[in-house]
Order: sequence, then C-alpha cells, then structure tokens
Amino acid sequence: MGKALIIGAGGVASVTVHKCCQNPDVFEEICIASRTKSKCDALKEKLDGGRTKISTAQLDADNVDEIIALINEFKPDVVINLALPYQDLTIMDACLATKVHYVDTANYEPLDTAKFEYKWQWAYREKFKEAGITALLGSGFDPGVTGVFSAYALKHHFDEIHYIDILDANAGDHGHHFATNFNPEINIREITSKGRYFEDGKFVETEPMEIKRVYNFPEIGEKDMYLLYHEELESLAVNIKGIKRIRFFMTFSEKYLTHLKVLENVGMTSIEPINFEGKEIVPIQFLKVILPDPASLGPRTKGKTNIGCIFKGIKDGKEKTYYLYNVCDHQECYKEVGSQAISYTTGVPAMIGAMMIITKKWNKAGVYNIEEFDPDPFMEGLNKWGLPWKESFNPDMVE
Ligand SMILES: NC(=O)c1ccc[n+]([C@@H]2O[C@H](COP(=O)([O-])OP(=O)(O)OC[C@H]3O[C@@H](n4cnc5c(N)ncnc54)[C@H](OP(=O)(O)O)[C@@H]3O)[C@@H](O)[C@H]2O)c1
Repeated sequence: MGKALIIGAGGVASVTVHKCCQNPDVFEEICIASRTKSKCDALKEKLDGGRTKISTAQLDADNVDEIIALINEFKPDVVINLALPYQDLTIMDACLATKVHYVDTANYEPLDTAKFEYKWQWAYREKFKEAGITALLGSGFDPGVTGVFSAYALKHHFDEIHYIDILDANAGDHGHHFATNFNPEINIREITSKGRYFEDGKFVETEPMEIKRVYNFPEIGEKDMYLLYHEELESLAVNIKGIKRIRFFMTFSEKYLTHLKVLENVGMTSIEPINFEGKEIVPIQFLKVILPDPASLGPRTKGKTNIGCIFKGIKDGKEKTYYLYNVCDHQECYKEVGSQAISYTTGVPAMIGAMMIITKKWNKAGVYNIEEFDPDPFMEGLNKWGLPWKESFNPDMVE
C-alpha cells in the first residue's frame, strides 16, 4: 500500500521498523536512514526476508538538501522522524519541498536551549496546508497515545473534560546503578528543567521535582511520582476545550534521583560547552557516552510500565471520572522486538500514526497534534499492534 522513510536507527526506530515489518499490507517498503549507517544495516539484516522490502541509507538529518535528495530517490508516502527533536525542522522543510507527509514523536527543541515548545512547528501550519500534506506531531506514547486517550475520552465519555492528570510509571529494573530509558541527553534535559502545569488558562511554574505525589498504579503498585512539564500539556491546553487543569507526573525512584542530583551538582548535566584538554565538549553529551546505551537495557529490564490519563469532567450534567491506561511488560517487549518497554511504547504508536496517514484514515492537510484527529481507528490500532488499553470508571484520583 505504501512506503515509509524512517529517519533514525536508535531504540525507538528499531521498534517502529519491527512493527512496520509486521504490517506489510500497509508498509510495503521502508527505508531506514540515519547518521550511523551500520545501525540501519543491522536492523535490515535482522528483519530482511519478510514481505516488507527494506533499504538503508546514510543521512545527516541536519542537512535539508541531503534529506530532500533521499526523499526524491526513495519516494516515500510518509517520513517518520525518529531521530532527535533537534532535527524536526530540517525534516519538515524537506517534507515541504518534496510534498511528503511527516510524522514525529517529540517537538522541536533548539540544541543550545533546553526549552521545547510547539511554536516552531506550529509556524508551519499554513505551508503544510498549502502543500496539501499532513504533519502529525507527537505520535509516541507521551506525547501521542496520551493525546489520543484525551480525544477518545472527550468523544465517548464526556461532554466537557475539566481535569486531566497524565501518569507515566515505569516499574522496570535494569540492574544498573543509573541509566536512562531513552536518549539520556533528551531525558535528562527534560527532567532537570523546571516543572510546569496548566491551570485556569495559564501555565504555573514549579522548581524541578518540587511537587511529589504517591499513586497506587494498577498492576504496578504504589510509586512516588513527580510533576514535570511535558510537551503535550501545551497542545492539550489548546485542543481540549473547557479544560481547567492538566498535569503530568512521572515516577522516579529515590536511587535515580540521588544519582541525578549528584550529576547535576557537579555540572555533568550542563548543556554549556566546556574546554577539556584543548577540545570543546558539552558535559551532558559526554555523560551520554559513559551511561549505558538505552538500546542495551532490553535484555536486562524486568517489570512493567503503566502510562495513562485520569479524566474528570461532566457527562449529562453529572460529574464523572475515567482512567485510560496501558500496561506494558519490559520482558514481553524484549521477546517480541528485542527492546524494552520505553522504546516499545513509543515505537508502536509511531508506526500506527504513519499507518493512519498511509491508509488515509487521517487525511487533512496542515500541521496537527494527534488529539486533533478521530481517535477511534488509532485506539483500534493500539489493541491490535501490542499496546492494548484498559479503562476504569472509578479510579483513585491524584490529590
Ligand atoms: N513521545 C514519546 O513517548 C517518546 C518517548 C521516548 C522517546 N521519544 C523520542 O524518540 C526519539 C528517538 O529516541 P531514541 O531513544 O530512539 O533515541 P536514540 O536511541 O538516541 O536514537 C536516535 C537516532 O537518531 C539518529 N540521529 C541523531 N542525530 C541525527 C542526525 N543529525 N542525522 C541522522 N540521524 C541522527 C541517531 O544516530 P546515531 O546512531 O549516529 O547516534 C540515532 O540512531 C527522540 O526524539 C525522543 O525524544 C519520544
């Protein structure tokens, strides 16, 4: 049916590639292109021989002309951006120049400022509309499935949603003293930033990790969780009409936070370049090199994740609460695709988002966040492709 160009060959891309190959009716052909071609070739070698035809390419996705040349050669229907958020705009520029649809899982962030916002990508709305192509922003789990869950809750269970709490719990244990579950640089930039949540029409800022709650997660148990800023808060605040408050919480163990505090205190998480023996290095990029590669955690990680949204609002004049979540088992993911659950829960929705576009189930020109589309076919896709969702009509609420 279609062709996808997958940019990046890291933890998340590996899962998306596996899932595209499980779905050859939709993904007849894929090209895996990344900075380090050997990683693309390794994926091809692992998955070649099925009905999905795989090719690979070396690509510097910071270079618009290189991306355009590859798109012109491969002629995909959609580009799935699974490189880093720094490459979002160059890849969007290349999609515009070639009139090819675009999907990503993380919003643009400039390399030299730890500040992610949709304004840069939303500025492309008119251009994408005029070009007659779709940019689907944030088709991972969070952002991604959390937006689909919100749209689904609003469509089927509420007249108005007033409160959303997004809860992201990882009860996985990889046995290392300290490791991040996805790209360490992006992950540490996210959690060492100030917290922020949306309330009564504006964002309220907190110190990093200032707000802590304890929640008893289904199938996981009681965990400490901390309020963070997360990019879907920005789009949901705009797209869920009548919303009064949205918060995002992520679980961290005390051990993880102690290590992070020490690294932060000694300057290892800084994004400011320093001079080391005559060479300029960025401490957090150096730290990334010495930390375990997230892709290597798969075989060691045991336990489950639980990510979902708790909604409170009004249906037929009455107050109502509703909890939608997915539980994912690290070892089951590893058995299926050779990756842990964090990459899995992102890589599967990236495939489903691209499938929505190739199959034209989602078909409107412009730049859209995921909650702006009909959630139903995506929710079906989650059940079919490995991330079944569960619901509760009487959830414990977060204080
Ligand atoms: N929405 C969600 O739920 C969610 C959750 C987790 C992650 N994410 C996002 O998913 C993306 C991928 O994460 P990951 O954990 O897979 O990261 P990763 O393992 O570090 O993989 C990133 C890949 O991008 C490649 N790359 C980096 N810069 C490039 C460039 N200039 N040109 C071409 N390729 C380049 C890397 O190449 P090398 O191999 O040469 O380094 C690597 O293959 C990130 O944007 C992350 O923020 C989203």
